[in-house]
Amino acid sequence: MASNERPLRERIARELRERRENGLLRTLDLPGGISLYSNDYLALASDPRLREETIRAIRETGRVGSGGSRLLGGNSEDWERAEMEFAAFAGTEAAIYFSSGYAANVGLLSAVARPDDIVFSDSLNHASLIDGIRLSGARKVIYPHGDFARLEEELDRHRNERGAKFIVTETLFSMEGDFAPLGELAALGRRHGAELIVDEAHAVGVWGPQGRGLAAAAEIEKEALAVVHTCGKALGSAGAFVCSSRVLKEYLVNRARTFVFSTAPPPYLAGQIRAAVRLARGMDAERARLAELARTLREELRGQGFSAGAGASQIVPVIAETNERALAWAEILQEEGFAVRAIRPPTVPEGTARLRFSLTVAITRDEIERLVEACVKARRRTNSGSARSMASRG
Ligand SMILES: Cc1ncc(COP(=O)(O)O)c(C=O)c1O
Repeated sequence: MASNERPLRERIARELRERRENGLLRTLDLPGGISLYSNDYLALASDPRLREETIRAIRETGRVGSGGSRLLGGNSEDWERAEMEFAAFAGTEAAIYFSSGYAANVGLLSAVARPDDIVFSDSLNHASLIDGIRLSGARKVIYPHGDFARLEEELDRHRNERGAKFIVTETLFSMEGDFAPLGELAALGRRHGAELIVDEAHAVGVWGPQGRGLAAAAEIEKEALAVVHTCGKALGSAGAFVCSSRVLKEYLVNRARTFVFSTAPPPYLAGQIRAAVRLARGMDAERARLAELARTLREELRGQGFSAGAGASQIVPVIAETNERALAWAEILQEEGFAVRAIRPPTVPEGTARLRFSLTVAITRDEIERLVEACVKARRRTNSGSARSMASRG
């Protein structure tokens, strides 16, 4: 059949061509060099202790596949136990496991919010939160990142409207590396009768007492409607728990479509996650080292005149402003042996194209020093114009 009889296929090919031409094509290339985009913050994904516990779980659990959704034969004591233990870790009454953080956020938001409701959402929230809000049909009010005066104005403006109100935020923003002031947000929620939903994806395991997250650190974990903890980042595993009251858990078991209509992950994964949480709880020394590495990197970058954002976490942005400069810097850093990618609008606001360094405990002080030197070199080369042609190739 000729391609002009298949307009959809042409459209797909055209879009890919355009993405390639604009330097926006995503690929599955394996990263080379020192990784600066791993979320495996505590290096648990390759920790021999976690590997051993996972092998043990495979031996000890009855079957390696679950055989169905949790509601249709796929439930097991392994998942029940993992949820109970995770709730204790998160400091909530209950927890329910989803097969990914994406599924957790989409399932949660599309279940609790309805078209009559209003969701107040930080402009830098993750795609999974955005998609969950969209799917719920609720009205969305996006407030500029971290602008709580504006959020309060918006809450005020919608004071007399019917329907439930939600404030939705990440606790550690994945592109900016800064923290949401959860105490302040909880107080706003209280004043305006809005429910708080927080996503701890980049904080769990790394921040809070025993790595229990920032909601636990701010002591708002029980007050929030739901706290989402993912297991694919610092916990070195996969999936996510929505941590909440027992009543909300029961509601999600009934209404969260990404839970109801999806096969339960294999029971041994529950064993792996339980082990990862036990290990993560005891990793205060690693958390301190990671915080120290991040502090050093920020200080040295700022000392060299770079803008490294306002955050204080293990995620360190280096603002290049223009797409061309971000691409050129990324290319130079790759030549210097660092696996890093440029992040550009619309993922981040216009004029703030950047490199994003995601630090893990596997990185050494020496590598941090070399990274700063490589950034200085990249800036020098782009300033001298030698990278202009390189950027146009990107
Ligand atoms: C803030 C945030 N929430 C949720 C997710 C999705 O989690 P998962 O990768 O487990 O689907 C991510 C993933 O990058 C994230 O950064």
